[in-house]
Amino acid sequence: MQFLTDFTPELVVASPGRINLIGEHTDYNLGYVLPAAIARKITFNFQRNNSDDRCHIYSKQYKTGFSIDLKSVRRSAMEWENYLLGVIHEITKKTDRLRGFNCTIESDLPAGSGLSSSAALECGLAFGLNDLFGLGLSKISMVKLSQRAEHNFVGTQCGIMDQFASVMGADGHAMLLDCRSLDHTHIPMELAPYKMVMLNTKVSHNLASSAYNIRKSECEEGVSILKAKYPEVQSLRDVNTPMLLECRDRMNTTVFNRCSFIISENNRVLAMVDALRKKDLNNIGALLYEAHEGTRTLYEVSCPESDFLVDFAKKHPEVLGARQTGGGFGGCVLHLVHEKSVTRFVESATHAYKKKFNIPLEAFEVRPSRGTTITYTK
Ligand code: GLA
Repeated sequence: MQFLTDFTPELVVASPGRINLIGEHTDYNLGYVLPAAIARKITFNFQRNNSDDRCHIYSKQYKTGFSIDLKSVRRSAMEWENYLLGVIHEITKKTDRLRGFNCTIESDLPAGSGLSSSAALECGLAFGLNDLFGLGLSKISMVKLSQRAEHNFVGTQCGIMDQFASVMGADGHAMLLDCRSLDHTHIPMELAPYKMVMLNTKVSHNLASSAYNIRKSECEEGVSILKAKYPEVQSLRDVNTPMLLECRDRMNTTVFNRCSFIISENNRVLAMVDALRKKDLNNIGALLYEAHEGTRTLYEVSCPESDFLVDFAKKHPEVLGARQTGGGFGGCVLHLVHEKSVTRFVESATHAYKKKFNIPLEAFEVRPSRGTTITYTK
């Protein structure tokens, strides 16, 4: 099939990835998260094509594309297409104003690396179509419909953090998001003289696999046990450690550990906000290491490659703290590294990682950046 791979766009949208400083798997438990959008992004070029319902989407990176008819949007056998098809499907449920369009996509966000390339894909398309066809959708409704797209077309029962962070990010700030009320506060991220360095394990997590959804249902099992004793409990957000201990005998160890992690991770998010406000660098680092330990031993979403990097970091005083970021099972490990030692530390980590796993580590610095942006409009 022939695709339009280059055209003069009517609209260009920059849709960023995100890092999560702390608060992993707390979003679907209606707790707190502390993510930030980053400058790495997916760029969308759009043009209307004067047809009623033919849409053509082409990925410059994968050199492949697909076409659909707006009257019959169905799931595809290709996973990456489903993120986009899901968004189109959700939009057509809300409005009949969508018409045919051409779209090309380019990315400098490594896929499957815990930096939310999925949310960037979903939200960037929603944002672009909203503007191109004057759909009048609010940012929050684009965030929510993108999350639903992932539930319904991809099959991952994800929380709302990634879409929220990608759309709502603010330069220089992390975002404290209450995933129950969706209230959010931008928190200045002043980490000098430390830099945020991502080391990509190049081991790809697979959220579409059942592991993520299993974690979610284990938490739900915990909630239903807790609810029997504490009827006011709606989610793990409403549970504290004494309550959990009170119900320990009624749940298996796995469910207990999952709940225990979520309760402490929620507390760590709030402790991190406090540490950021006080610029208490040592505590910031300690919280990162503590959180990683929880993901490894209690929530069990880490992997040998991420653990190796975190253990390696602990032996280096120029690193303040480190933890695997995102859904888990690999992807990127976030490190806070002293600015004077970044090059040296990255070199030695790369060497050690190559020796251990025979995988070339990828390293890059990130800083909190603005959320989804229209960078060009005709
Ligand atoms: C993925 C999901 C998010 C969140 C994280 C873990 O990135 O999309 O909703 O649950 O995993 O914190």
